[in-house]
Amino acid sequence: MRVLGLETTCDETAAAVVRLKPDGSGEILADEVMSQIAAHAAYGGVVPEIAARAHVEVLDGLIVRALQKAQMRATEIDGVAAAAGPGLIGGVLIGLSAAKGIAIAANKPFIAVNHLEGHALIPRIDGRLGFPYLLLLASGGHTQILAVEGVGEYVRLGATMDDAIGEAFDKTAKMLGLGYPGGPAVEAAAKGGDLERFALPRPMLGRPNADFSLSGLKTAVRHAAMAAAPLTTRDVADLCASFQAAVVDTIEDRLRVALGMYRQRGKTAKALVLAGGVAANGAIRSTLSRFAQQSGLPMVAPPLRLCTDNGAMIAWAGIERLRLGKTDDLSAPARARWPLDPTAERARNNKA
Ligand code: KG4
Ligand code: ZN
Repeated sequence: MRVLGLETTCDETAAAVVRLKPDGSGEILADEVMSQIAAHAAYGGVVPEIAARAHVEVLDGLIVRALQKAQMRATEIDGVAAAAGPGLIGGVLIGLSAAKGIAIAANKPFIAVNHLEGHALIPRIDGRLGFPYLLLLASGGHTQILAVEGVGEYVRLGATMDDAIGEAFDKTAKMLGLGYPGGPAVEAAAKGGDLERFALPRPMLGRPNADFSLSGLKTAVRHAAMAAAPLTTRDVADLCASFQAAVVDTIEDRLRVALGMYRQRGKTAKALVLAGGVAANGAIRSTLSRFAQQSGLPMVAPPLRLCTDNGAMIAWAGIERLRLGKTDDLSAPARARWPLDPTAERARNNKA
């Protein structure tokens, strides 16, 4: 089984072909990713109109290249998957329409994949990770802790009440005059910095639910930066190290609570899994691997290029769905919002 997957929900345009091997693992035959980072850098964030135009300009070329690298024609694929949301609607529509067009032309099944499900399932591509597992999904737009119990079966144990973790990294970087995207820039600047110099808050620490709140930390960084201005390279390094340490402590605490919540439901997670762009962070990876070890769980984190947005995760989620017969109608809509656990989302909205 070979599936073509398209990703256009944010600032990466991607097309990939993944093959399901007889042993249940996946082989990435092609994985073309075109980042728009340069186009958005001047604005310090993603500009939706620029993103949509860039997707239109490069997507067809990436699809052709992906098929060439996989050495196949469109008619030889077994299914076409596209991220149908959540994301910037202009971009989502472009990938979704392209996938539907190819599915019609090649007369193959179409699969509408939730972008978050792509992040959630890609750690299974090596064929070794079984359900259920506890997932920290942390990217520029999302921060949640999920129990992944099966394909399409997600229980949300906690989520951010304000900024996403990646967003907090991006905003901190912007505040300190570092580049965009902020995550890698803050991590690099933090190397050699003194993580104890600035006493920053650990929001939500010790709370009995597994939710996150990051806007207070962001404000504390701004105040500390203003008090220390004009900032030297040393100050920036210390601020970044202190900020990163606060984020790491918060994540560890929230995961500990989530693990307890899941146990209280009488369920046992088989692994702790990291996904989303923030999972590229070395400090977060090493702390959580120690935490997982203490909790008696293996930690699974996909290789870095599969952590950030890519087409292989959409193709793989497409395979996971297709092999269960979960295909979609060509009327499947593009969705700006699309929670993985709609019950948790409803509960939250009712509370608000
Ligand atoms: O999953 P992703 O590629 O795109 C979204 O769906 O958002 O995640 C991008 C986010 C950005 O906010 C970026 O700053 C963050 O992931 N990120 C990092 C690191 N690398 C990327 N955050 C912290 N440390 C990193 N090394
Ligand atoms: Zn993402």
